[in-house]
Amino acid sequence: MAKLLVMKDISKSFYGVKALKNVNFDLESGEVHILLGENGAGKSTLIKILSGAYRADSGNIELEGKHIDISRLGPRMAEEIGIATIYQSFHLIPHLTVAENLMLPRFVRDGGMFIHWKAVFQDAKNALDALDFDIDPHAKVKDLSVSKKQMLEIAIALSKNAKILIMDEPTAALSQKEIEILFSTIARIKERGIGIIYISHKIEEIKRIGDRVTVLRDGSAIATVNPKTTSAEELISIMIGKTISSHNRRVVTSAGKTLFEVKGLQNQNFSKPINFEIYEHEILGIAGLVGSGKTELAQAIFGIDRLDSGKISLEGNKIVITSPRSAVMRGIGYLPEDRDACGLCLNMGVKENMSLANLAQLHSLTYSHVHETQSVQSMVDDIAVKTPELSQQVKYLSGGNKQKVILGKWLLANCRLLILDEPTIGIDVGARSEIYELIRNFAGDPGHSVLFISSDIDEILEISNRLLVMSQWQIVAELDPDKSSKNEIMQYSLGTRTRISHD
Ligand SMILES: Nc1ncnc2c1ncn2[C@@H]1O[C@H](COP(=O)(O)OP(=O)(O)OP(=O)(O)O)[C@@H](O)[C@H]1O
Ligand SMILES: [Mg+2]
Repeated sequence: MAKLLVMKDISKSFYGVKALKNVNFDLESGEVHILLGENGAGKSTLIKILSGAYRADSGNIELEGKHIDISRLGPRMAEEIGIATIYQSFHLIPHLTVAENLMLPRFVRDGGMFIHWKAVFQDAKNALDALDFDIDPHAKVKDLSVSKKQMLEIAIALSKNAKILIMDEPTAALSQKEIEILFSTIARIKERGIGIIYISHKIEEIKRIGDRVTVLRDGSAIATVNPKTTSAEELISIMIGKTISSHNRRVVTSAGKTLFEVKGLQNQNFSKPINFEIYEHEILGIAGLVGSGKTELAQAIFGIDRLDSGKISLEGNKIVITSPRSAVMRGIGYLPEDRDACGLCLNMGVKENMSLANLAQLHSLTYSHVHETQSVQSMVDDIAVKTPELSQQVKYLSGGNKQKVILGKWLLANCRLLILDEPTIGIDVGARSEIYELIRNFAGDPGHSVLFISSDIDEILEISNRLLVMSQWQIVAELDPDKSSKNEIMQYSLGTRTRISHD
């Protein structure tokens, strides 16, 4: 029987940047075939060619043994022949409801003239229930969390009777529980004979759900292996061409000096007043499931959400934060979770984006273009942003490289407290340890500390000096990462273990 999909000798360049070089890739029915590779290796470009978003410069594609004319392969044709995609950034319509987004292509019509709204909402509810997705069909998409938007994208793709489902980092912003739901959905999709192309940077996940993995390096497919019989170390070394070392946690040397303190902070989001302090040089981790209030905590401190009461102090002095601008003026930086919506000016260059949080300095009398270029260039080198030049518009960077630009912007900004919300989403394993090192260096400078929010418990345990667990919109535990297990943190997050919090 013919293979479900065969892609042969696919090449693609962007203004001289060779994104893909004669790549071969194939897919069987009912198979999960993983694409693995560093940020900018060409993974998204390959699947964008298959889904008709980009046109290949050369190559051949066959679907179930039939030749596909790549010069005609656009998004519409891809959808018609059964290729559905979930992209890294969402394609939902924010001001419409979940049901409208889900049912948009085929509204149930009453007598052919009017939309039968009751049926639209009921069909949407049935489709979401069938997938075990807990999303209200009446909710506006703009009000959904990143994870729910992603789940909705998956539901839309499945509703189009796809033969091939492409998922570009689908678990990047999902909690453990939601990942389990996704994996059981994937098992059911496989049984229907649908082939899945799956991009991921998470080695554990690749080993768990992948049937085959193809590694891309600098636009070339360099190996296809069985992830179940290949060790994590081998996979990483195939991917980056060397082995990576792990770093030790920084020891807080000047414990005792409080840099930042939050007392009795309360607004409509929290079920209990929030109290905590961060010491100088400390990386304070905040663990918790998606929807536990972690992002809301960051938004309250950064002046995005209004406070009803509470006191925030920096080095013992009370500070008043009424807006993100006033937070930045007080030396607080924030890397948001939803990076496309709030983190970047997509039409501006890498350099402008990375200098953005430093405007006060740039407007000073001592400002120098040369200095700006130098500091951005050295940050670009440090965190290995893959870009042809500093003036490249960030919308043309790969997903992980966009994330590096936002992170670089805040590491360059002159802030005291840096709040990082899921900072390593979409970042490859090789760059991850370098980024941890930069975050540690930032915290090591005088008068600096970091609030590190993540739903990835392994990451929190690796980087934090101390950690708080949030559950149900309150802080439920304060733990020492050296003395805590992943399981213990999970139990606090799920509310199956409780402790009187320090308030
Ligand atoms: N529209 C575009 N214009 C110019 N360059 C592009 C465009 N799309 C992708 N590129 C470049 O092609 C290369 C491959 O990018 P791609 O998005 O495929 O990487 P990726 O493997 O998906 O990386 P990531 O893990 O960061 O998502 C990168 O150097 C990127 O900057
Ligand atoms: Mg990508």
